[in-house]
Amino acid sequence: MSNTTTDVKLEFDPKNMPFRRLGPSGLRVPLFSLGGWLTLGGTVKGDPVKDIIKTAFDAGINMFDTAEAYAAGKSEEEMGRVIKELGLRRTDLVITTKLFWGLRKGPNDGGLSRKHIIEGTRESLQRLGLDYVDVIFAHRCDVSVPMEEIVRAFNWVIEKGWAMYWATSEWTAREIEEAYHIADKLNLIAPIAEQCQHNMFHRERPEKEYDPLYRKYGLGTTTFSSLASGLLTGKYNDGIPENSRFSQHPEFFNSTIKSLQQPEGQAKIQKVRELTKIAEELQSTPTALALAWVAKNPNTSTVILGASSPQQVTENLKALEVLPKLTDEIMQKIEAILGNKPEPVATYGRPALDKFGRQ
Ligand SMILES: NC(=O)c1ccc[n+]([C@@H]2O[C@H](COP(=O)([O-])OP(=O)(O)OC[C@H]3O[C@@H](n4cnc5c(N)ncnc54)[C@H](OP(=O)(O)O)[C@@H]3O)[C@@H](O)[C@H]2O)c1
Repeated sequence: MSNTTTDVKLEFDPKNMPFRRLGPSGLRVPLFSLGGWLTLGGTVKGDPVKDIIKTAFDAGINMFDTAEAYAAGKSEEEMGRVIKELGLRRTDLVITTKLFWGLRKGPNDGGLSRKHIIEGTRESLQRLGLDYVDVIFAHRCDVSVPMEEIVRAFNWVIEKGWAMYWATSEWTAREIEEAYHIADKLNLIAPIAEQCQHNMFHRERPEKEYDPLYRKYGLGTTTFSSLASGLLTGKYNDGIPENSRFSQHPEFFNSTIKSLQQPEGQAKIQKVRELTKIAEELQSTPTALALAWVAKNPNTSTVILGASSPQQVTENLKALEVLPKLTDEIMQKIEAILGNKPEPVATYGRPALDKFGRQ
């Protein structure tokens, strides 16, 4: 197992990567991390997986995200293999995986029962070839399991040393609140982060629904699909290119692909074209602009990148150059194009508090 300091072949150099705390925890995560959904172990196999992970690691990315269900377990296997082959030091890395969807069809092979949380964690670790992950995510909430069972099971996994922290993914704010209250009441460890979709076209939940959670609990986000699966790169402006995600997964993205022919999708493409002009003003690309825009949000702990080639990793990290250029004026211009800023929660005429008022 590549868990120890032996066999280290590559030293980690954070380069110019900023690090943020993952929510209220002491864990430092790179502002850009890398995930394996659909790509690592799926459309990308063998040496190219190594090339992508090495390119990311060399650029200061030491956090890698996967899930039990990605490529039916192959994503964890490939990631584990590459960590070992590259000779990465375990302590340099932040590895996250997720449980819920399971790999088999049995009634206890998925979800968030104590049984699946414990068995699923052990199976994930086996596939990764690791003794522990840094964060284990509940990939969705399981409404059929009592919340106390879920919180206790993740605490058990942490006490066993199989994970350092636990977190949620695509839970409602109410579900996250319930987990916090149970953890608080029973003196257990609460989730530290939410892995949520956040991009220029998907804002209500991360920017509005979760807003009280950032302020009350210091919740952090590990954002996904921050390029809207590639839409925000501009690659779909004139149709679906060969070998792109939408062409390789036509069934999964069926409704998105159809919508691109309809007024709603066309309006999005028009916005991408207008965003491209702003990106050009900043000597950059719409891709880097879209990623920097999510990274600028103070509640974002890390933006999880998705990439099907090393070149995409390098191009996407140009977001670090755009970030300091996102002045208030540029942000307002972006807002004017997007026109989808979530309405603030109604205060019914109550006057605003000053900056110390915790509003
Ligand atoms: N918790 C959850 O439920 C959940 C859900 C989704 C994702 N995630 C996590 O978040 C990670 C990122 O999500 P995502 O993959 O959907 O992110 P994304 O950034 O929206 O999409 C990534 C895809 O866009 C294309 N792309 C990326 N950079 C590009 C570039 N510079 N030029 C052209 N095309 C580019 C690539 O696909 P092609 O080259 O194939 O077109 C790439 O695989 C996942 O890997 C996973 O770890 C979590």
